[in-house]
Amino acid sequence: MSRVKLRSMLFVPADSERKLAKALGNPADVLILDLEDAVAESRKETARQMAAEFIAAQAASISARLFVRINPLDTALAMGDLAAVTVPGLAGIMLPKTRSAADIARLSHGLDALEARAGIAPGTVKVVPVATETPQAMLNMQTMCSPIERLAGVTWGAEDLSTAIGAVSNREEDGSLSPLYQLANSLCLCAAAAAGVPAVDTLYADFRDAAGLAAACRASRRRGFRGRIAIHPDQVATINEAYSPTEAEIAHARRIVDAFAAQPEAGTLSIDGVMVDKPHLTQALETLRFNE
Ligand code: COA
Ligand code: MG
Repeated sequence: MSRVKLRSMLFVPADSERKLAKALGNPADVLILDLEDAVAESRKETARQMAAEFIAAQAASISARLFVRINPLDTALAMGDLAAVTVPGLAGIMLPKTRSAADIARLSHGLDALEARAGIAPGTVKVVPVATETPQAMLNMQTMCSPIERLAGVTWGAEDLSTAIGAVSNREEDGSLSPLYQLANSLCLCAAAAAGVPAVDTLYADFRDAAGLAAACRASRRRGFRGRIAIHPDQVATINEAYSPTEAEIAHARRIVDAFAAQPEAGTLSIDGVMVDKPHLTQALETLRFNE
């Protein structure tokens, strides 16, 4: 399976001419043209057409991969969205309010037909579900990790889940995430790892707070997230930097790989007086693969 780099995924409301234009020069790995929550009901049809036109016009000439967040599968809009935007150049679909793997399978079957109609090679269009926005998804999380060919990553969100639960807030009085949303964060990590795809962290809403974003990204990367959603163009450089391996990490990874290559019989080695074994080698290879 060819991997799509999901280090930074910038949301762009698809009905905004200005934002689409602004997104063109952005260093995000992925632009997510949004048809869902950032678009008013009266603008849904316009957004769909603008997304399709943007993909057709820009996909070949910009470095970012183009995804579309369609409306949820239990709305009347979803399949029309999918039909409109499955044009050559579409790299992926973000599926909001996913309920279980059955939703992902249904989306994938829709894409099977639409790719054929559009003359796109089968399986080209990847899928990234938002895996924690519904209570059903939280209870069905083990089904999300069945690795389907189109699955490119998994992300999570705390806002829609708290709405569905009927919570006053998803945060405690001290500002920390409430337990249910900490669980959502952790389940996203597990579901992604079980499926063998990257976990992409949720958005950082305060887009003027670059230092807060950088700190949140560092913490998130330590926990295993490989990238993050951005909602504002200014967040992307911070995210790209935070989720990329540092020079020191790359140098250390190379030493581990070289040390095992030099001693193919060895299961465990010492580097600078510290034991390294198979998991360290796996991690080192992953670090070196990051920039491919
Ligand atoms: N993508 C592309 N361009 C964006 C952008 C985005 N997500 N957010 C802002 N911009 C553009 C603005 O249009 C503006 O450019 P312009 O002067 O050429 O018009 C420039 O960046 C600076 O924007 P700024 O004034 O700082 O922000 P704003 O007040 O216009 O917008 C938000 C703030 C939050 C409304 C906006 O960032 C946004 O729409 N974010 C995405 C929301 C979204 O998609 N949500 C769904 C997922 S949760
Ligand atoms: Mg939402």
